[in-house]
Amino acid sequence: MEALISLLLVTMSSIFLSVSGSNLESFLQCLPQHVQPSNPISDVIFTQNHSNFQSVLNAYIKNRKFLIASTPKPLAILTAKHESHVQATVICAKQAGLELRIRSGGHDYDGLSYISTVPFVILDMFNLRSIDIDIANETAWVQAGATLGELYFKIANTSKVHAFPAGVCHSLGVGGHISGGGYGNLLRKYGISVDNVIDAQLVDVKGRILNRESMGEDLFWAIRGGGGASFGVILAWKIKLVAVPEKVTLFKVDKTLAQGATDVLYKWQYVAPKLPEELFIRVMILVPKEEKTVSPNDCHEMSWGQSTVFFLDSSQNVTSIDVLLQRPTEAKISFKAKSDYVKNVIPREGLEEIWKKMIDNENMFMQWNPYGGRMSEISESETAFPHRAGNLFLIQYYESWPEEGINATDLYTNKLRDFYDSMAPYVSSNPRNTYLNYRDLDIGISSNNQTSLKDAEVYGTKYFNGNFKKLVEVKTRFDPDNFFKNEQSIPPGNLN
Ligand SMILES: Cc1cc2nc3c(=O)[nH]c(=O)nc-3n(C[C@H](O)[C@H](O)[C@H](O)COP(=O)(O)OP(=O)(O)OC[C@H]3O[C@@H](n4cnc5c(N)ncnc54)[C@H](O)[C@@H]3O)c2cc1C
Ligand SMILES: *[C@@H]1O[C@H](CO)[C@@H](O)[C@H](O)[C@H]1NC(C)=O
Ligand SMILES: *[C@@H]1O[C@H](CO)[C@@H](O)[C@H](O)[C@H]1NC(C)=O
Ligand SMILES: *[C@@H]1O[C@H](CO)[C@@H](O)[C@H](O)[C@H]1NC(C)=O
Ligand SMILES: *[C@@H]1O[C@H](CO)[C@@H](O)[C@H](O)[C@H]1NC(C)=O
Ligand SMILES: *[C@@H]1O[C@H](CO)[C@@H](O)[C@H](O)[C@H]1NC(C)=O
Ligand SMILES: *[C@@H]1O[C@H](CO)[C@@H](O)[C@H](O)[C@H]1NC(C)=O
Repeated sequence: MEALISLLLVTMSSIFLSVSGSNLESFLQCLPQHVQPSNPISDVIFTQNHSNFQSVLNAYIKNRKFLIASTPKPLAILTAKHESHVQATVICAKQAGLELRIRSGGHDYDGLSYISTVPFVILDMFNLRSIDIDIANETAWVQAGATLGELYFKIANTSKVHAFPAGVCHSLGVGGHISGGGYGNLLRKYGISVDNVIDAQLVDVKGRILNRESMGEDLFWAIRGGGGASFGVILAWKIKLVAVPEKVTLFKVDKTLAQGATDVLYKWQYVAPKLPEELFIRVMILVPKEEKTVSPNDCHEMSWGQSTVFFLDSSQNVTSIDVLLQRPTEAKISFKAKSDYVKNVIPREGLEEIWKKMIDNENMFMQWNPYGGRMSEISESETAFPHRAGNLFLIQYYESWPEEGINATDLYTNKLRDFYDSMAPYVSSNPRNTYLNYRDLDIGISSNNQTSLKDAEVYGTKYFNGNFKKLVEVKTRFDPDNFFKNEQSIPPGNLN
């Protein structure tokens, strides 16, 4: 029985067709009327009868469990190549009464960017991926369809002493990732992505392109952590680059229970959220599938650009950062994930209980991410992302499996739910907080054709605490008919 702990820096659609055939036709007829002939829209429309429909759909399904025939399919996918294609898609989907799902990188844990239970179309943003860096002003404009890897590459390719605080995984889309918060290993020094966003371009429900000035501070507040999908289509973000030294240092230490991991982790809870802001020590907790040799606790010095590669895979000697530009193909992993915030140190006995529960679950790991530092200096209402002072760390629970099919999905999802239930005594409560980017439909949903305020208050409070109220107010002003919606969106309405 060995739980290995490494302290580290590393590691139905046919029915709809008959119902909505006429809606689709009117949608398709509407589109060309809203674009200039110089930006033709016809070659970015993929209806179900198109020979590339399936491959376009699957390209950004990042959870293998959804690559099955029973996953509801869109009536059409629009792979916008021009801003006017985005505007036309919004205007025409609204007019035709079709639901819209917006997809940038496709990593939504529950597939909300490409699955709906009502007739829908997908607006796919991957073609809109330009990145313009203004190094003199230490800013950049990044389009929603760019990946974090492309952004990191471009920054590193321009300057050795600049960086951007965002996630670890290179294939995340900037559109979804940043609007949900966006954190990585610069979080204790610079906060999260939304703390470093200074402007944005958004297509609203009327098809207008707004920027920070024309949308106003309230909507700009909402899309920084409240999720873009409730408010409009993010076209691009203007971000503030942050300073990093020419060399950063990474280390990885593995400890097994026999080597005193429980003690180390107990103390980590006191220390990691209080260390100097320059230090981010993530813990990865897992049950090793085989006897694990413990790696030496070497420190590795490298540029920030290289560190973004090393952090994800510490087994390689990072000579080139070209890997950041890869756009991976078919999803290989089926998974379910959940999250929690911890506000009080978990006692030693608690940790031992957790290991007992975890030991039967080789398919699960936990990531513990320390907060503190800059995160505690930013008020809860500064942006829509509310998890600030008072949080010691964020836990991500992640269960993955190799088997295909619904039965495996049910089996492993239930295992993870079980584990999550057993963690209740140690984590935040009333509300039990959850990180929006770790989307979890288990914490509550609204029927996506109705989005009831009462249902939304349940998940909304867990994701946003008191910020939920302001999010509803902003929604009511900017999208009163609730066009931009999904199972966990912010509904319009009156909370009083
Ligand atoms: C392997 C992996 C690693 C991860 N690592 C991290 C991490 O280190 N840090 C972290 O914070 N998170 C992490 N995440 C979570 C990630 O931030 C979220 O899944 C995020 O929503 C992904 O954005 P996306 O554009 O790729 O996803 P999508 O599925 O395309 O979108 C996610 C949500 O945003 C909406 N959306 C997408 N684009 C737009 C747009 N242009 N305008 C309006 N709404 C839009 C979608 O409709 C959907 O609701 C990770 C996820 C995975 C799968
Ligand atoms: C595919 O379906 C769309 C929408 O129904 C239709 O307009 C188009 O003509 C069809 N194309 C082919 C090749 O059948
Ligand atoms: C940099 O910012 C200044 C002040 O905001 C602006 O006047 C200038 O045009 C910017 N530089 C570039 C290259 O855009
Ligand atoms: C930028 O990237 C290009 C293409 O990979 C490469 O040839 C060039 O050397 C890089 N420049 C810097 C300064 O990293
Ligand atoms: C990594 O690469 C550097 C430079 O090419 C080399 O000096 C070093 O020995 C390599 N380290 C390992 C562990 O391969
Ligand atoms: C899935 O589970 C159901 C109900 O338990 C069972 O009838 C069915 O045979 C299972 N399917 C597969 C592929 O195992
Ligand atoms: C909403 O969807 C449900 C099924 O998902 C359906 O029974 C109901 O009639 C729909 N309501 C509206 C208003 O369309």
